[in-house]
Order: sequence, then structure tokens, then C-alpha cells
Amino acid sequence: MKKLDRRDFFATLGGAAAVAAMTHEARADALERYMMAAAAGPAAAGSAGSAPPGSSASAGAGNKPFPTTAEVEAQIETSPKRWGVGNLFTAPNGNVKRLPPMPAKPTLIDYFKLRFVQTSNHCLQSANRAMKNGMSEEIILACLLHDTVQELIKVDHGWWSAQMYEPYVSPKVTFAIRYHQALRFYEDKEHGYEYPDLYRRMYGSDYKPEPYIEQTWQMVRKHKWYLEPRMVTVNDLYAFEPNVHPTLEQFTDIIGRNFKQPREGLGFDNSSVAHMWRSIATPDHPL
Ligand SMILES: [Fe+2]
Ligand SMILES: [Fe+2]
Repeated sequence: MKKLDRRDFFATLGGAAAVAAMTHEARADALERYMMAAAAGPAAAGSAGSAPPGSSASAGAGNKPFPTTAEVEAQIETSPKRWGVGNLFTAPNGNVKRLPPMPAKPTLIDYFKLRFVQTSNHCLQSANRAMKNGMSEEIILACLLHDTVQELIKVDHGWWSAQMYEPYVSPKVTFAIRYHQALRFYEDKEHGYEYPDLYRRMYGSDYKPEPYIEQTWQMVRKHKWYLEPRMVTVNDLYAFEPNVHPTLEQFTDIIGRNFKQPREGLGFDNSSVAHMWRSIATPDHPL
């Protein structure tokens, strides 16, 4: 597992003062993005912390002096981009690049290969770990899909991701995807999830999740499917390994058995979420 460079991570967010000014949920998301980009490799690392564009932090300059809280707060209104924007809609540095064309009837695998560029390796690592740990096919699939929606939008990614996959996978899989976002913050040693020291170091011992996350936890912990999202967090936590690159082919059979690929292609099946897929396929459409 990659060791967190705390100073570099703070720098990508605009410095210690900026981190202190963030909500805990925003910090957790930023940390996840940082680790994900580190796993994806140098090409993606520039966008790791999703620092406000134009800030010294977005240049990945770990050694520059930290800005004050006031300077960071001022950056919010000088940036054209918000931190919750999806990977495809912004460039880590400079301009965005042209995307390769999609086939007329794109499959999930096409999206993985052509659009899930920044999230795929982290998700593959997570699914790989779930497979090695002997998890069910539904949990392996949930791990494989859990963060992919971050190509479209990052804020509240558990909920967005579950919605995007709802017509194509079982309710158990979407339950696992939706609630992994909240369960990250709650220890469950019995099932192999310890509150990570990483979070303790980053957030301090007085960390308290936002009320909607706490309410979600209270609901999920009593739910008969509690273990589904819990297992995503168990396999997610250690899924940031820079030199591990599982292949998608490893999961082809599980996808085939558990993912209802629409005949018309994802984005063109007239489902309630088709527009989400089209937005990932063609993010350059102006309207
Ligand atoms: Fe996540
Ligand atoms: Fe993740």
C-alpha cells in the first residue's frame, strides 16, 4: 500500500489551513482522490487533490509555502471549477485532451477502456482484492464499479454511482455502492474494518461525520444487507497500490453474469440514467 505523504497531500489541497477549513466529508473525498491518483500513476497524479484551479496547490508543488485560510477561501470565487467536478470535465494541468471515439453501442467494458481512465485502476485493485478474499460476485462487482462515477461527478459519489448502475445490476450491488461512502468512517473490527490510522492522522481524534452521513450509518448498520457496503470499504481501504495493475479481463465473466448490458448500448437504451452515460461518453457536448 502506498504510504501517504501527508505534506504533499496537504499541499494539493492548499495547505494545512485550507484542510482545516474543509468539512470532514470533503477531506475524506479529497484523500480518496489523492490516493486514487497516486495509484493511477504520474499521468493522473496532477489532479490528485482536486485543488482549486489556479492555486499553487493545483501545480502539485509540495514545497511551496502554505496559503492562509483567507487566501484559500478567496480562491473559491476565483476558480471556474468546483472541487466536486468529475475527472472528465477538467484537466489536472493545462487544457483537456480530445477523447477517443466511443463505439455506437458502448458496453461497460468500452467505458472502462475509453472513459474511466482515472478511476479504473483503483477500482480494479479493489475488485481484485475482493476476489482474492473470496467475496461474492456481487461484492466483487460493487468494488469494480464503486468509484467510476467520479469521472462524471465527485461530490456524493456513492449515491451518484449507485444511481447510474441501478438499471443494470442487482439491488444488493447498488446498496453496496451507495453506502460505501458513509461506512468508511465507522469501525467494524469484527468484519475486518478498523477505522484507519490514516484518517486519524488526517482528521484528528475529534472527527465527527456530518449529520447525513451519521444518519445513513445508523440506517445501514441495522440493515440486512449491511455487509455488502461494509465489504466494499474493507476491500477499498487497501486498494491504493501503485504497482498493482489487475486487468479487466479478470472480471469479464463476473460482468457477464451480473451486469445487464443493454442491447442498444449504455447511453442509448432510453433508461432513466441513459443521460448519465451519454454525459460520460460525450462530455464535450456544449449543451
Ligand atoms: Fe469511494
Ligand atoms: Fe474507492
